[in-house]
This record gives sequence, C-alpha cells and structure tokens, in this order.
Amino acid sequence: MNYRHAFHAGNFADLLKHAILTRLLRDLTVGAAPLTVIDTHAGAGLYDLRGDLSRRTGEAEAGIGRLMADADAPSVFDDLKAAVGRVNAPKEGRYYPGSPVLIANALRPRDRYIACELRPDDHAALKQVLPRELGAVVHKGDGWVHAPTVAPPSPAALLVLVDPPFEQGDDYVRALDLLTAILAVNGRATLAIWLPIKDLATYDGFLGDVEDAAAGHAVLAVEIRLRPLTDPMRLNGCAVIVVNPPPGLEIPARAAAEWIATKIGEDGALGRVTMVGGGA
Ligand SMILES: C[S@@+](CC[C@H](N)C(=O)[O-])C[C@H]1O[C@@H](n2cnc3c(N)ncnc32)[C@H](O)[C@@H]1O
Repeated sequence: MNYRHAFHAGNFADLLKHAILTRLLRDLTVGAAPLTVIDTHAGAGLYDLRGDLSRRTGEAEAGIGRLMADADAPSVFDDLKAAVGRVNAPKEGRYYPGSPVLIANALRPRDRYIACELRPDDHAALKQVLPRELGAVVHKGDGWVHAPTVAPPSPAALLVLVDPPFEQGDDYVRALDLLTAILAVNGRATLAIWLPIKDLATYDGFLGDVEDAAAGHAVLAVEIRLRPLTDPMRLNGCAVIVVNPPPGLEIPARAAAEWIATKIGEDGALGRVTMVGGGA
C-alpha cells in the first residue's frame, strides 16, 4: 500500500470532496437525532503543505491556494475555508485539514465519529490530530471490512465517507459491495463516494453499477473534468457520488464543481451535477 495522501492534500479533488463533505455535515447535523459518521479511509487528518511530500507535487498551491485567494468563491466553500483558517496562524496557509478534522469540527457532543485508517504511520498521526474530547474512535484496520460492522441500523442518522486511494483494481468492486452492505443495514444512510476520472468508460460503468446497487434511492453525481478525457493515463478529473443526498444539495454541489472547473481546469474543462437515481 504505497498511497500517501500528503502528496495530494488540498488539490482540486480534495476541494470538491471537502466542499461536499462540509455541506453534508451541515445538513445532517440540523436535526435533533445524533449523527454517526464513518470515514472508511480517513488518512492522516492534517497535512503540512510545506512538507517534502506536498512540495514535490505543488498540487495544493493550484487547489486550496487558489481557493483561499478568491474572496468571491461560492459560499459552498465557506466551511472549508473556515476550517483551513482554524488550523493555521492568521494569513498563513501551511496546514490543510483532512476529512477527520472537517468532521470533528462539525460534530456535536451527541454525534459519533468512526475513522478507519490502515497505514500504521497515518493512523498514528491521526490519533495525534483528533481532539480527545470528541470521543472519536480511530480504528487501525480495513475500512471496507469495519464499516458495515459498526453502521447503526435504520432509522439512525448515518453518513459514510468512502475515499479509497483507487490504487487497487478492486476498489470499485469493494465500494459497490460496501454500498450494498450499508444500505441493507440502514436504507436511510447517506454515502459520499469519491472516485477518480481517467476515462469515460470506467466512470460511466461505475455510475451505472451504483445506480443498480442503490435502486430506489436518489443518487447525485458531482463531476469535474479538468480537461477532455483524451489521455486515460492521467487523472483528468474526479467525482463524488452521493447516495441519499439531503434535499437541496444539487445547487451548492454544482457551484463547487463549476468553480473548480473554471478556476483550475484547462480548455474544455467542465463541472456538473447529474441526478442518476430515482428516489424511493
Ligand atoms: C485518499 S486518502 C484519504 C483522505 C481523507 N479521506 C481526506 O479526505 O482527508 C486514502 C487513505 O486510505 C488509506 N487506506 C488504504 N486502504 C485502506 C483500507 N482498506 N482501509 C482503511 N484505510 C485505507 C490510505 O492509507 C490513505 O491514507
């Protein structure tokens, strides 16, 4: 397992994923019921953008650097920008918060957070980063296996973030299996699945499979292409597929995708939102 998120933290893909995540957290913590959040692939939690790994790619500068410099960026990014501000000294942009910090920021005392991380070094870093008072459970192990065993059954409020590295060929199949398993336990669960876009056939095929696996549930696909998909060896874009999205997600999600495509994409970039599943 070679993937290190530190190379990519704060890049265009994180901006889309984290804009949608913070919006979901806002929507799902409005009600009185406690929310459980399961983060199947949590990462290290906080990233030093001046560190060697990040500086080698320069991806953060083109991503979160550009977002923080744009005072007119759409409001869907406000919670992410505020979270970046909280982990940095005033006017500094050294650190970038991963999904665990964004989730920890948003949860209330009655909510629960279960973070899964397989790499021992990133797991150890995550344990240092998460505030003790949150009562978060940081599981050192396989999120694919662990998530269905800890998902609270319906009608509990549940958000599952699925953010694998996609370095293993079977990550697509495992994501579909997890989706099926979670919906069997809790049909009201909201799932957000991040995936890379390299070529259209793989992306469309996965979307069709999600639609089948989540038949009867609403499915929103939020997609960015940084450039036309002519070279399948490159990361040409990414998507976040949201199963059982809260009402109204479509508008802020589109604003996020369009801003990223316009500000970070090349000629022929696009950002769009598609409702691919029917509601129950
Ligand atoms: C894309 S990164 C996660 C980023 C994080 N969700 C965020 O938004 O800040 C994927 C993480 O999954 C971890 N990982 C890989 N396979 C895993 C598995 N089967 N279970 C749990 N974690 C895994 C990797 O070590 C890596 O830290």
